[in-house]
Amino acid sequence: MTEVRPRARRYSVVANASDPRRPYPSPFSYLSTLYHYKYRILLLAALIIVVFFTFWEPHVELTLYSRHWIKSEIESLSPLKGCFNEAKLQNSTYNVTFAMGPKRTDVQAGMPMRFGLDCYDFAGTIQPDPNYYPFQQESLYHTYWRVDLASFGERQEWMLKSFFATQNLRHSKLILWSNGDLSQNPIIKTWLKNYPDSFELRITDIPKLARGTALQDSPLLKTHDDKAWVDGDLLRLLLLWNYGGAWVDMDTLLTRDLSPLLEHEFVTQWDCYDKKYSPFNGALMNFFKNSPYLCEFFHLMASGPPPRGGSTDWGSTLYLKLWRRLVANGIPPFKILPFCFSEGRSCRLDNRLPDPFKPDHETWANGLTLRGENSPLDKTLKKIFAIHLHNQWEKSFPEDGWVDRYLLRRFDSGLLS
Ligand SMILES: *[C@@H]1O[C@H](CO)[C@@H](O)[C@H](O)[C@H]1NC(C)=O
Ligand SMILES: *[C@@H]1O[C@H](CO)[C@@H](O)[C@H](O)[C@H]1NC(C)=O
Repeated sequence: MTEVRPRARRYSVVANASDPRRPYPSPFSYLSTLYHYKYRILLLAALIIVVFFTFWEPHVELTLYSRHWIKSEIESLSPLKGCFNEAKLQNSTYNVTFAMGPKRTDVQAGMPMRFGLDCYDFAGTIQPDPNYYPFQQESLYHTYWRVDLASFGERQEWMLKSFFATQNLRHSKLILWSNGDLSQNPIIKTWLKNYPDSFELRITDIPKLARGTALQDSPLLKTHDDKAWVDGDLLRLLLLWNYGGAWVDMDTLLTRDLSPLLEHEFVTQWDCYDKKYSPFNGALMNFFKNSPYLCEFFHLMASGPPPRGGSTDWGSTLYLKLWRRLVANGIPPFKILPFCFSEGRSCRLDNRLPDPFKPDHETWANGLTLRGENSPLDKTLKKIFAIHLHNQWEKSFPEDGWVDRYLLRRFDSGLLS
């Protein structure tokens, strides 16, 4: 029976059910048929794969979340501390009238902006009012560099240059925080000399910054991880609590004046996919001094489980936890800037910014041009506020690539003029 020609075999299988004299076919007979056709089957499979990948680009991302974690960290709602109680607020430097009052611009679109360049165009609707600056005093911008992670070089300098070239220096000051002395670094020395009123170096003292918060004297303050995720997350909240202002991660290039955003307290969207358990990003955020939002963050941090190293427990997850508790208690939440304002890299191929570290492709976002003055890419960059580069410190911007042409050269010429 093993020696039957395949065509006959196929018929014999079908005929078998009604022919009791013939033995029941071995289950392996199908396999031997397949074996006979193996080259045709392989060819067909190869063809299907080629056609599939010609027309589709699969994006698969698998993340495992423990159900226990979802239940305890996302779904459950522990009570707030009461930082928004009137008596507490009246005793604070936080100006409730300003913080909760009407605003000139709206920074939330209210829909996910899935098509074309909608998100970028929405960013473009937020324009400064030439006759109005939201603050009487100067606005502070904080950033942080960990001296033990890498040395401060030219790549890092571009963040400083982007600040000096794009922000309103009559009203703004950048404070570069670090965990060690940077004052002897030649690059930093130059900028301290060029902009003595708009640039300052300071060294962090976490226990001191935490005084008067729910985290005062907490052993959690010693939390430290190699990627600077957890301690960076803690530091930004402590700095904004003590001084108020915008936090900007060092691995960011600012592309235009942030001041029209700064009347709001905000974090940003993580990316355009709206991940269920990590919708928020703190690479760019703004909170006022002694903000009750920050006070509630410290309470959640002090009362929750310790953060896991390299996790976003004190970042994205924390912001989500507070957001849900705020609305559950009838308190207007902080704002969430749409992803493209600063995370234009984190979206689909058809609407994300081109890779800053690769030489230019012919086009970006489904065939738009990226060369010349006022190209669609040039216009888009003028609408957004920043580009978060997600570390990648070992990479440099390609010579004459879009970052070089549209941003770096303009920063340099803006600084010279
Ligand atoms: C108000 O602030 C003062 C000094 O900072 C403090 O002693 C007092 O307990 C505060 N009152 C309330 C109601 O928080
Ligand atoms: C608080 O904000 C309001 C509205 O912007 C402003 O008129 C008022 O002067 C501010 N108060 C203080 C103490 O700064």
